[in-house]
Amino acid sequence: MTNKIRKAVFPVGGMGTRFLPATKAMPKEMLPVVDKPLIQYAVEEAKDAGIEEFIFVTGRGKTTIEDHFDRSVELEDLLTSKGNLDVLEDLLASMPVAGQVCYTRQQSPQGLGHAVWCARHLVGDEPFAVLLADDLIYGERSCLAQMVDAQSQTGGSILALMDVPQEHTSRYGIVTPGTVSDRLVEVKGLVEKPAPAEAPSNHAVVGRYILQPEIFDYLSAHEKGAGGEIQLTDAMAKTLDHSPMHGYRFEGVRYDCGDKVGHLQANIAIALDRPDLGPALRDALTPMLLDEKS
Ligand code: G1P
Repeated sequence: MTNKIRKAVFPVGGMGTRFLPATKAMPKEMLPVVDKPLIQYAVEEAKDAGIEEFIFVTGRGKTTIEDHFDRSVELEDLLTSKGNLDVLEDLLASMPVAGQVCYTRQQSPQGLGHAVWCARHLVGDEPFAVLLADDLIYGERSCLAQMVDAQSQTGGSILALMDVPQEHTSRYGIVTPGTVSDRLVEVKGLVEKPAPAEAPSNHAVVGRYILQPEIFDYLSAHEKGAGGEIQLTDAMAKTLDHSPMHGYRFEGVRYDCGDKVGHLQANIAIALDRPDLGPALRDALTPMLLDEKS
């Protein structure tokens, strides 16, 4: 069994009802943040972490994701004929190499744990990453790359961790922390979406995981948890007594792009940070914000 993290699973089967009507005929993972679809941020983060195989767990109505990670000969011809070679180069550079991408369908929405389980044959017997595109993590260094480095020291499983307001614990997987050393937090327990009064801490799991293949044994039981869904958190909790697990407090900012305000915030923050857009956007926003205040 290899210990290198070569494969990443992207669960992209969700319906995206929070963004209707935008997501009626378009996958929520294709919603743009500035000028790039959400899913592409996650794929680029994975690439930067050395991932070589990209496994998408899709569902009905998600074929534009496949098209997005495929070449478009007509578009390439057009850009070439117009001399738009920089754009063409960027477009080609962002594509996974042929044969590095595969798709499987989650036939019915039964939860995150079920989506990950659907990838079991494609992952096989090796540690792997899971990235939830809704959680856009923006920073100088790929969050997953930071986690891959940490995992090479700790072994076992690693989850991205951040502190959330106590009143938000019911939106996340929450950990019971053990020993803390720098960015690493030993995980002693895990519970999915606890009410604030029952939450063991305010350390929340965000959508980046490095998991061991034994997780599939627990997911195979198809036990339902919070919200009547098969939860990844519950399966992870079952591995705790025999396999190390750490939370990793990543460097970077996480935007919850599954939420309208979080998505808008990501658009503005990332555009402000871009040399080609930041100054003009700042000029456009400042009077609007001053108007609001007066
Ligand atoms: C999922 C996980 C949850 C995690 C969250 C991070 O929940 O089940 O443990 O904290 O992602 O975004 P979801 O947001 O899909 O309900």
